[in-house]
Formats: sequence, structure tokens, C-alpha cells
Amino acid sequence: MAGIGACSLGTTLMISALLLVGVSPASAQAAKPAPRPAPVRGKSLFARDCAFCHGRDAAGGESGPDLTRSRLVARDVRGDKIQAVVHDGRIEKGMPPFPRLTLPQVNDVIAFIRDQTRNLNSKPGGRRGVDVTDLQTGNSEQGKAYFNGPGKCSSCHSPTGDLAGIATQREGLELEMQMLYPQNTKAKLTVITTSGETFTGTLTYKDEFHIAMTDSEGWYRSWPIRAVEYKIDSRSDAHIEQFEKYTDNDIHNLMAYLQTLR
Ligand code: HEC
Ligand code: HEC
Repeated sequence: MAGIGACSLGTTLMISALLLVGVSPASAQAAKPAPRPAPVRGKSLFARDCAFCHGRDAAGGESGPDLTRSRLVARDVRGDKIQAVVHDGRIEKGMPPFPRLTLPQVNDVIAFIRDQTRNLNSKPGGRRGVDVTDLQTGNSEQGKAYFNGPGKCSSCHSPTGDLAGIATQREGLELEMQMLYPQNTKAKLTVITTSGETFTGTLTYKDEFHIAMTDSEGWYRSWPIRAVEYKIDSRSDAHIEQFEKYTDNDIHNLMAYLQTLR
């Protein structure tokens, strides 16, 4: 953490120096290397604190369960459920407490576990979550009603359009994860710098210190997040908002419904 903070200060100093010699800050920052992405940071933390029991690949080890098939992990959008387990441990069951890991660190660990889940699921031969049957306990009629009603899913999706055949492309836990927080969606980022310059592009990175985009010409540009104004426009944010509203039943029913889309 301290390292990143120092690095952002360094960047600021470097930019003020460059301003003196008349180089635009945008081009100076475009050359700045990308910060380490969350899954990479999470990997080191995981190797240090968790791999001993959960396996280096998070798929289970000596004494800890496979976290890539954990529903608790899959359903935790903000990291708070996992934070609770990691903070308090489940001492009587062999999971020790890690009271010093911060929420951002836990979120990095989650990013690593999700990356691993995707890697393992995309291996040839296809791997399903263990609890496929659990994913099929819902009522598809009620799921359909939720999709067209309170879930407002039909305002963006169609069972005969973009979601046609979704159940043949993604299975089980992977489909559920994709429904809960779609990956690889391109959010649009607009940044206004202190000098009033506006940049637009695709959001490629954001943490508490930096925000970055790839612009229309393919340049990677990054800014210290506190030094700029920015706006992120992401249609799939609806999913994150929806997360607070789902009951477990809604999720089960939706999954049952989505699995009829073959
Ligand atoms: C000494 C072994 C050990 C270490 C180290 C360990 N765990 Fe665990 N962990 C366990 C065991 C055993 C369980 C199963 C507890 C139970 O049955 O409820 C568990 C359960 C969990 C769960 C709940 C899974 C679920 O589906 O309910 C999460 C999340 C988790 N661990 C994350 C972590 C993270 C993150 C780290 C590193 C910061 C870590 N663990 C380090 C042994 C360990
Ligand atoms: C405001 C628009 C919006 C709403 C409302 C919305 N979604 Fe999405 N959804 C998206 C976007 C955007 C994506 C990413 C698709 C992409 O990038 O191709 C997505 C992705 C998905 C995916 C993954 C599709 C794939 O090809 O992997 C599923 C499944 C899904 N949504 C289901 C739902 C369900 C169920 C609801 C209702 C609870 C819902 N969505 C509500 C915009 C929305």
C-alpha cells in the first residue's frame, strides 16, 4: 500500500517537472506503466496467507475447501461476506482469523479467486461447480416473471435476443457469476483534468489511487484518481445495484429460468 502511495506522489512530482519544460501531462502519463491489477496483487497475498490450506490455485488444498466453487465467494460483490470470514475466521472448523487484512486487500484476494475460477472453468473438458443441482432448485416460471417484472431484466435483455442460448454457452456457477456481475463489459470513462482537458475512453483500471483508460487511439492513460474529475458510464452497473435487491429465491428462480434458454 505504502509503495503505491509513494509512487503516485512520484508521478505528481514528475508531472509538475514536465509541465515546466512544456510537455503536456497527458502524454507524460500515457507512458506510465500500468499499475499491478487487483488479481496480481491478490495472488501474492493469497500465496502468503491462504495457499497453505486452500491450495496455490485456490482450488482446495490440505485442509481448506475449494474457493473457486464456493457460493459464498461467488455471491460476494463487495467483499463484505468474505471479509467477515477472513477477519473472524471459523476457528473451530480450522479457518484461522486474519484481523489485519484490510477490505481492499480482501477485495484483491477475491479478484484473484475469481480469476482462478474463470481460468479453471475455461479449461478443456469444462468444469462445473459442484453444486449444479443446487443451482437448479428454483422455479423457472417465477424466474421468468421476475425477469420481466421487478428485476427489470427485460429492459436490457431479451430471451430470444442477446440471451438466446445463454445456457448452452455458460453453465452452472459460471452462468450464475456472469449473471450476478458480468465480466468483460466495457464501461465508458470520461476524465476532466485540472487544466480542463477532457478525455474519453474505455475504463481499464481503477483502484483507490489510480484511474486509467484506453482511449480511441489505443493509448493507455492513467491519472492519480484524486487529481481529476471522472464519470463512469456502465450499463452493467444495473447488476451491482440489483444485487442489493435480490433474495436468494429470486436468484434461484432466475437461474432456473436462464437455464431454459437453450
Ligand atoms: C490453516 C488453514 C487455513 C488458512 C491459512 C486459510 N483458510 Fe480459509 N478455510 C479453512 C477451512 C478449514 C475452511 C472451512 C471452514 C468451514 O468448514 O466452515 C475455510 C473456509 C474459508 C472460506 C469460506 C468458504 C465457504 O464457502 O464457506 C473462505 C472465503 C476462506 N476460507 C478464505 C480464506 C482466505 C482468503 C485465506 C487467506 C487470507 C484463508 N481462507 C486462509 C482453512 C484455512
Ligand atoms: C441497465 C441494463 C441491464 C439490466 C437492467 C440488466 N442487465 Fe444483464 N447485462 C447488462 C450488460 C450491459 C451486460 C454485459 C453484456 C455484454 O457486455 O455483452 C449484462 C450481462 C448479463 C448476463 C451475461 C450475459 C453473457 O453473455 O454472459 C446475464 C446472464 C444477465 N446480464 C442477466 C440479467 C438479469 C437476470 C437481469 C435482471 C435481474 C439483468 N441482467 C439486468 C445490462 C443489464
